[in-house]
Amino acid sequence: MQFSIKSGNPEKQRNACIVIPVFSGRKLSRPAATLDKATKGAIKQHLKREDMEGDVGDLLWLYDLDDCFADRILLVGCGAERELTAARFKKINHAVAKALNKSGAADAASYLTGIDNKSLNLNTLIRLSVLSIEEALYIFDQYKTTKKKPKRPLRKLTLNVSSRRYLDKAELAMHEAKGMAAGVKLARDLGNMPPNICNPTYLARQAKQLQKTYPALDVEILNENEMKDLGMGAFLSVSQGSAQPGKLICMHYNGIGKDAGKPIVLVGKGITFDTGGISIKPSQAMDEMKYDMGGAASVFGTLQACMDMQLPVNLVGVIAAAENMPGSNASRPGDIVTTMSGQTVEILNTDAEGRLVLCDALTYVEKYDPEVVIDIATLTGACIMALGHHATGMLTNTSSLGRKLENAGEVINDRLWELPLWDEYGEQLKSNFADMANIGGRPAGTITAASYLSKFTKNYRWAHLDIAGTAWHSGKNKGATGRPVPLLTEFILQSLK
Ligand code: BES
Ligand code: MN
Ligand code: ZN
Repeated sequence: MQFSIKSGNPEKQRNACIVIPVFSGRKLSRPAATLDKATKGAIKQHLKREDMEGDVGDLLWLYDLDDCFADRILLVGCGAERELTAARFKKINHAVAKALNKSGAADAASYLTGIDNKSLNLNTLIRLSVLSIEEALYIFDQYKTTKKKPKRPLRKLTLNVSSRRYLDKAELAMHEAKGMAAGVKLARDLGNMPPNICNPTYLARQAKQLQKTYPALDVEILNENEMKDLGMGAFLSVSQGSAQPGKLICMHYNGIGKDAGKPIVLVGKGITFDTGGISIKPSQAMDEMKYDMGGAASVFGTLQACMDMQLPVNLVGVIAAAENMPGSNASRPGDIVTTMSGQTVEILNTDAEGRLVLCDALTYVEKYDPEVVIDIATLTGACIMALGHHATGMLTNTSSLGRKLENAGEVINDRLWELPLWDEYGEQLKSNFADMANIGGRPAGTITAASYLSKFTKNYRWAHLDIAGTAWHSGKNKGATGRPVPLLTEFILQSLK
């Protein structure tokens, strides 16, 4: 989609279509009032005659109004003005994008960005618009030999601002929005790739590819021998069951001088397929375990977004890439391995593999002397039980970091909810034979998983994001969401302020 920014009255726009917001109770937004005046009250009349209240989800097409250049107008219900939230605004834009794409109008001017208020400023509205519209029109059809596309898809969308004074600010917001949206798309594409193609080696090649596009990126890929030399016994116990070799993918973006600031380090779980290993999963919906590299995908997406925006930040992305298969060399329940940290782990369930690859990656990243470390992982089914598909689970050893992440998620509508990381939960990980077990029983599965990871993150500020419920949609609309790229990118943007 080609986005641009403009200011000016709606009746004067020479687009095929203009999009005009209306609030509940037929309350006219500022742009709607301007258009109503120019068309001698036609907007109010139509709202009444066609019985449109302005509630969220209401859409009304008007054609060929006098005194208006565009031949069609899409009136969009936005609900009560005071109840407008980021979530609602995204939902509204989503519906508008779908309607425009079907309508045959190749270009449109949206005035939805003209309804900024105290809690949703112009900058946020522009970013939410671009994110939700790109999200709505996303398709993944690389592997379809016949492609289903609308005859005249929407190609150009102008976002209008209420005054020329805001143009510069709006352009900057647009620039950020495009970077974020492209990062989300990259994460979705990687997630949706089939697992026979998207294996650890593919992800490593992806890193090299990113380096070609962004020469500021350093890429180093550790193979299994190198990991063995580092003592990464936990990581290797996962990849050893697969014919696909594991990779530790390290990417370093120096947006400011190497000595100018400690890096923000992102660590992504990159299990390109999770069968469960010898503790094998039931076959129901097992295909969705191709999304078990969603954390890795979000690291790629966030890195790309930050490099697109040329942010002055030092950023490291590390991906623990492996395939969890029940091969003849697979680890068994009861195996004991030694982690890079020196601590030993009794593997009681080979399906708790994410924490095994992550714990060694988390020890490894100490070498970057990080400002903070954030790991992102589709780690536990229990997280879906606790929070469903709306919030990412967050656990942290530094509450100020938690607050910042929470706030970033709130602003960009990619939300998280914190769970407690109390010592008591750690007791559940006791092993009779090693320093710890890799599972903590049924109660509080998300917390015991984080508690396990916390034994490897004592030397820095750390937050863990469990995205098991948010990285992809199941069912009819099965597909990767690209979450939490917006959350992470927003967090990094805010860390620069
Ligand atoms: N990748 C899964 C977690 C998962 C399962 C995410 C289903 C989304 C949907 C992870 O590797 C896993 O299998 N976790 C186990 C842990 C258990 C063995 C302690 C789980 O959640 O069942
Ligand atoms: Mn698993
Ligand atoms: Zn997994």
